[in-house]
Amino acid sequence: MSTGSILGIETSCDETAAAVVTERLHVASSVVESSIALHVQFGGVVPELAGRAQVDAIAPVIERALFEAGLDAHRPGVRAVAVTRGPGLVGSLLVGVSAAKALALAWGVPLVGVNHLEGHLVAPHLEHLGLALPVVTLLVSGGHTMLVVERTPRAFELLGATIDDAVGEAYDKVARYLGLGYPGGPEIDALSTSGDPVAIRFPRPLRDVGLDMSLSGLKTAVVRAVDRSPETPAADVAASFQAAIVDVLAAKCERAVELTGARTLALGGGVAANSELRAAAVALSERLGIASALPSLAYCTDNAAMIAAAGFHLLERGQASALSMSADPSLRLDAA
Ligand code: KG4
Ligand code: ZN
Repeated sequence: MSTGSILGIETSCDETAAAVVTERLHVASSVVESSIALHVQFGGVVPELAGRAQVDAIAPVIERALFEAGLDAHRPGVRAVAVTRGPGLVGSLLVGVSAAKALALAWGVPLVGVNHLEGHLVAPHLEHLGLALPVVTLLVSGGHTMLVVERTPRAFELLGATIDDAVGEAYDKVARYLGLGYPGGPEIDALSTSGDPVAIRFPRPLRDVGLDMSLSGLKTAVVRAVDRSPETPAADVAASFQAAIVDVLAAKCERAVELTGARTLALGGGVAANSELRAAAVALSERLGIASALPSLAYCTDNAAMIAAAGFHLLERGQASALSMSADPSLRLDAA
């Protein structure tokens, strides 16, 4: 008998995740294993190591997600299996896609290939049912930086994106330069609290033009400032860098809300955990008189609940996938 739930699987990068989500978007279980500890010494995710870790983790993670949702691992009665088919690392993606195909075939249920970016964009809906549309979402992670509007349910339109580095990538590179650990975002965020955000006036690239973003010049400016004045406390550099980023991102969000008439501002991706970015998004929403939707940390970073939730909408639209579906490492949002 079908429980009406969907099993979601996410293996696009260094997280192996599985989740069971019910039709009403209640998360019955959400299990996330990360191989980040293997990558720390290299200062970034090593694709071969990530892929191998996915192989080791996938079966136990899926079993745990089914168990924690109170389902029988052999006959769980789920309605479908949803899986991230891209974008991401091909070796990692293939592990999840192969597992999902095998389970869909064994259980005789539909397979639903989900765009990872759509998952992040659906994530704010998991904890905020009935968000007022249009929703403008700033999606910022180690691999992605984009502004997207959702005018009608689950139809996502790209408004702007980075033309060079992703925000998380800029955080990680600056942190490495400052001798901080990996991933750098949380380190810079924490260090900033004891620094002076106006100690250095960093450039605000593209702040006052359009909706595209550019981060690489800011990263270079940090390197130049530290080379010029090596005595500047790292906390001041971190706080000034973060102030510049948050200032630019808030200005972009404000422009996107004005252009689209959005009634909700949402955040997504790992950088959405940033304390100042969250505070800025709330302050901006209050000033503009609109709602804000900030997912909790577990739904900002990669997880499978967002993939299952996105899977529901695709199923409802009759967009299940064939078992011949392949992973697509460079899948784009508009190809979803
Ligand atoms: O979404 P995510 O977990 O993985 C992908 O990139 O897909 O995002 C990871 C990124 C890293 O670059 C990390 O430095 C950044 O999110 N990050 C943060 C914070 N927490 C994580 N950046 C700024 N402030 C934070 N508190
Ligand atoms: Zn992600």
